[in-house]
Amino acid sequence: MKTIIEPFRIKAVELIRQTTVAEREKYLEEAGYNPFLIQAQNILIDLLTDSGTSAMSTEQWAALMRGDESYAGSQSFYRMRRAVQEVFGFRHVIPTHQGRAAERILFSVMCRPGDVVPSNTHFDTTRANIEFVGAQALDLPVPEASDTQARLPFKGNLDIEALRRLIREVTPARIPLVLVTVTNNSAGGQPVSMGNLRAARAVAREHGIPLYLDACRFAENAYFIKLREPGYAGRPAKQIAQEMFSLADGCTFSAKKDAFANIGGFLATNNDTLAEQEKNLLILTEGFPTYGGLAGRDLEAIAVGLEEVLQEDYLQYRIASTGYLGRHIADHGVPIVEPPGAHAIYIDAARMLPHIPREHFPAQALVAQLYRHAGIRAVEIGSVMFGENARQELVRLAIPRRVYTQSHIDYVVEAILEVDADRERIRGLEMTYQASFLRHFTARFRPRS
Ligand code: F0G
Repeated sequence: MKTIIEPFRIKAVELIRQTTVAEREKYLEEAGYNPFLIQAQNILIDLLTDSGTSAMSTEQWAALMRGDESYAGSQSFYRMRRAVQEVFGFRHVIPTHQGRAAERILFSVMCRPGDVVPSNTHFDTTRANIEFVGAQALDLPVPEASDTQARLPFKGNLDIEALRRLIREVTPARIPLVLVTVTNNSAGGQPVSMGNLRAARAVAREHGIPLYLDACRFAENAYFIKLREPGYAGRPAKQIAQEMFSLADGCTFSAKKDAFANIGGFLATNNDTLAEQEKNLLILTEGFPTYGGLAGRDLEAIAVGLEEVLQEDYLQYRIASTGYLGRHIADHGVPIVEPPGAHAIYIDAARMLPHIPREHFPAQALVAQLYRHAGIRAVEIGSVMFGENARQELVRLAIPRRVYTQSHIDYVVEAILEVDADRERIRGLEMTYQASFLRHFTARFRPRS
C-alpha cells in the first residue's frame, strides 16, 4: 500500500477551539502582533514549536506511575541511563531539565573567553550560552545551505574546508570543541550526512579537538541518512543512530524533541574528568546527578520515548507527513526551504512577499496573517529574531510529534494557499517595543498604514 497512515490511534483527545476572524484580530492587536503573546486557548493549530509539545504514548503515561522519586539513586535514573546508553553509547549521562541547561554546563566547563566554537549552525540558546562564557559561536554551514531552493540531500552539513581553515587560523588551542547540530534546525531543519560527520571527526581528531553533537533531532537525522545516503537503505534507524554517536565524544540533548517528552534533556560524554566537573556544576543549579532537575517520572518518559522514536514506521510517517505539507504548498507556488525537513516547514517570506522590505518584517507579517486568517500559530525566523544578522526571512511551521492528523495538515495547506492567493494585500509591520536581548519573545508591533 502506498498510503502512509499515522502509526497510532487516539485514546484521549484534547479539544481545540474555533475562533472568528474578528476575535483573532482582537487577540492579535492585544498581543502586539507577536504570536508568543497570544494565549494558547485562542490558537486552533499550534505550529510554534515541536519542542515539549509531543503527545506521549500509553506506554509513556504508564511508565510515569513507575517514577521513583528518590532524591538519590532513583531507579528511574538507571532506567533512563540504560535507554540512553543503548543508543548513544556514552559513558556518562547527566540529566538536565532541558537542552539549554546541558549547554550551559558543557560550555561553562569546556570554554574560556576568546575561544571559538564552530558548528554547522548554532541554535539560538546554544549561541547565547557560548557567548555568555565569553567565547565565540561560529556558524560554518555548507554554502548550498543559503540557497533555499536547492533540492540537495544534506544541506545541514558542516563546511569541512572552512573548519580546516579556521583551525589553521585560530589554532586548535582556542577551539575547545566542534559542535554539529542534527538536524540543523536554524538552517531549515536540514539533515547532516554520516559522511560529513565522519569527515568532521577526522579533522577534529587530527587536531585533538573533541566532536560533540547537538542531538535534539537525532532520530529524524538518522532516518534521512537511511533514505538518502548510499549504503544505509537497508539498515535500521537505531543502528544508524548508534553509528552517528560512535563518531562523537559527547552530546547535548533536549528530550523535548526526539524523546517525545514534555520536559527534560541530558549531557553525555566519554571524558571522566569533564564528567566530574559537569556533575559538580549540575548540583549547583539542576540537582543531584541521578535526577538533574527532573522528576523520576520525567526520566521514565524519556526512557520509553527514546525506544519509540526509533521505530521505523513512526519515522517513515514523520518524514512523509511533514514532506506532505511542504510539497502541497510548494508545488502550488509557495516558496519553502527545499527540500522539506522532518520537524518543520520553513516558508521563504522574503520571496513570497517581495513588496514588504526587510525593515517591515515580512516573515512576522506573514505569521500574523496566518493567525488572523486561520488560527494557525507559526514563528518568525528572520529579522525580528536575529536583527541585522538575519540571513533569511523565514516562517517556521513546526510540527508537534504525534499530535495533528492528516486533516489538520490539509487545513493548514488550504489556509496557506488562501493566504498566498491574497498575498499582495498583506502589509508590513513596525516594531513598537523591543527588549535588549532575545527580543523576538516579547517584541510588539503595529501594522503599517
Ligand atoms: N538545540 C537545538 C537544535 C534546538 O532546536 C533547541 C530547542 C535546543 C538546542 C534547546 O533545547 O529548548 O530543551 O532548552 N529548540 C526549540 C525550538 C525551542 O523551538 O526549536 P531546549
